[in-house]
Amino acid sequence: MTYIPEDILQTIRETADIRQVVQEFVPLKKRGKNWVGLCPFHSDKDPSFTVNEDKQIFYCFGCGEGGNVFKFLMKIQGISFPEAARALAQRYGITIPERPVSAHERKKKELKEQLLELTLEASHYFTSQLESSKTAELARNYLESRGLDDETIKTFQLGWAEDSWDGLTSHLESKGLDLELAEQAGLIIKRANAPGWYDRFRGRIIFPIHDHQGNIVAFGGRTVGLPGQEEQPKYINSPESPIYKKGKILYGLYQNKGAIRKAGYGLMVEGYMDVVSLWQFGIRQAVASLGTAMTEDHGRRMKGVTKEWVLLFDADEAGLKAATRALPICYKVDLRPKVLVLPEGEDPDSFVRKNGPDKLLELVSTAQSGLDYLIDMGKRHFGTDTEGTLKTIESALDAISQVQDPVRKSLFVGHISRKLGVREESLWQNLERRERNKPLRVAYSKDKGNDAQAKPKVLAKRKNRAEEKILGFLLSYPQYMDRFLDLGLELWLEDRDLAELWDAMVHLHSLTGRLSLSELYERLEHAPELRSTAMRLASAFPPCSDIESMVKDLEKSCMERKKRALRMQLIQQIREQGEEGDCEHLLRDLLSLR
Ligand code: UTP
Ligand code: MN
Repeated sequence: MTYIPEDILQTIRETADIRQVVQEFVPLKKRGKNWVGLCPFHSDKDPSFTVNEDKQIFYCFGCGEGGNVFKFLMKIQGISFPEAARALAQRYGITIPERPVSAHERKKKELKEQLLELTLEASHYFTSQLESSKTAELARNYLESRGLDDETIKTFQLGWAEDSWDGLTSHLESKGLDLELAEQAGLIIKRANAPGWYDRFRGRIIFPIHDHQGNIVAFGGRTVGLPGQEEQPKYINSPESPIYKKGKILYGLYQNKGAIRKAGYGLMVEGYMDVVSLWQFGIRQAVASLGTAMTEDHGRRMKGVTKEWVLLFDADEAGLKAATRALPICYKVDLRPKVLVLPEGEDPDSFVRKNGPDKLLELVSTAQSGLDYLIDMGKRHFGTDTEGTLKTIESALDAISQVQDPVRKSLFVGHISRKLGVREESLWQNLERRERNKPLRVAYSKDKGNDAQAKPKVLAKRKNRAEEKILGFLLSYPQYMDRFLDLGLELWLEDRDLAELWDAMVHLHSLTGRLSLSELYERLEHAPELRSTAMRLASAFPPCSDIESMVKDLEKSCMERKKRALRMQLIQQIREQGEEGDCEHLLRDLLSLR
């Protein structure tokens, strides 16, 4: 995937029409200035999904999903930004020039392509070995014993690595492929005391691991109970390489993402066999993090397909640990996690084989919300005395402190309060303490002046309507930005999100001389909560008939707030100087602000 130059992105942004693009997926009806339809991102009965052509954004008043045309395509097709940009370029006949890439970039890209060629060749080798090697029958029997049929084997491209030191090594060599690179791809290992390499996977069933575009980037291999294998790890995996980063890849996501999107939810399981075996039984919705802890990257990949995930855990302590680690990440990336604990001693594969798919789905439908799971598990695990309850509360708050949407967070706080019998205010205090101890998020401009530092960091609990109105107005009528630049918003915006959003707006405006929502949206990539605030404010701002008087009113109120903020600063300075200071000029300044 080559880099897309900024001016081409700009052309795409200006050419692509969000209504046209959305309408290819969602039927829309005109209503006032907006187009409305049923939201494709949550189960929507009343049309709450809106598309605004002037602003070139979409926003769902039901689930809060919103963004520009790129975001829409990324969400609905589960693709990356460059993929969405390319799709749009193609649709609108915009050519993306091949940028002269730097030598370093070209090398990196070539390396990746070469590694992918090797993993693909290796996969062909492994699948053909499963068809026709001397010991193919042993391997096929093993797969059969685990209940997998040909269709499943084909779908997951399962293979067989013979129990030999150089099967793959000599195959790759005979194809004239570079063995140094095969080592980099993790396929073969350099011999310690002799020249040459030997196969990493020997006497194992092979599970190729695909990236989300379908390239095979790594392999897992499972023992089949050959003599001598008892002492070896049951599974071995390719090491990380330029094409394989464990924390970013979910096994099964490539094969199952369509079905997950259709079902409206996915299942997160632990192992290769769980994914494959569920697929065999018609449950084509599972992905696995393959024994490693879930990462934020995993979470974002998952969210690209759906927000609704059920995490399946073992009944034991390990399950609780995994859940305590995974749930905060889920909340942070705005997933709606549920948790299902399987009966003692079962994993999804063994459960479905014993009880059938319907029983498993029945269990899945009873999964608890992540928060309820933490509360109930906490009660059971830590006990219900004061100390135990405190621990449970901490673990629940650890998770929900990550929730980005304030409304959702507030509902969660109410829920914990009711279930554990603590006052909501105490929970909010605890959350605010965490918030204060957290390093301040900065949208992207680090070089704030002294003014910003002097501003009291007030954590506004309730939304500040007046502040929201001003930003909502400017996001809707960005041509008036100029008139508000000198009104000291950075001094007095009390809501920290709004203050950061204002920073971002000013920054973009000074950089490009305009304020395009779509651009703002992209620039806030690293601050999803600001993004959604911006989209919400812009979408919720009602059209206004007398703009000029609206501007005048807003200017006036901004001016008053600026004066008040400056007065507060001066009073603070006077107080700090106390007796010994010469306050006369400060007092004079203060009077002039009346
Ligand atoms: P499990 O031990 O639960 O195995 O490991 P499993 O998935 O039930 O496998 P089967 O049913 O015995 O075939 C869960 C996951 O942890 C990783 C693998 O990704 C496995 O699927 N794992 C496990 C390893 O990487 N190495 C091991 O030795 C064991
Ligand atoms: Mn198992």
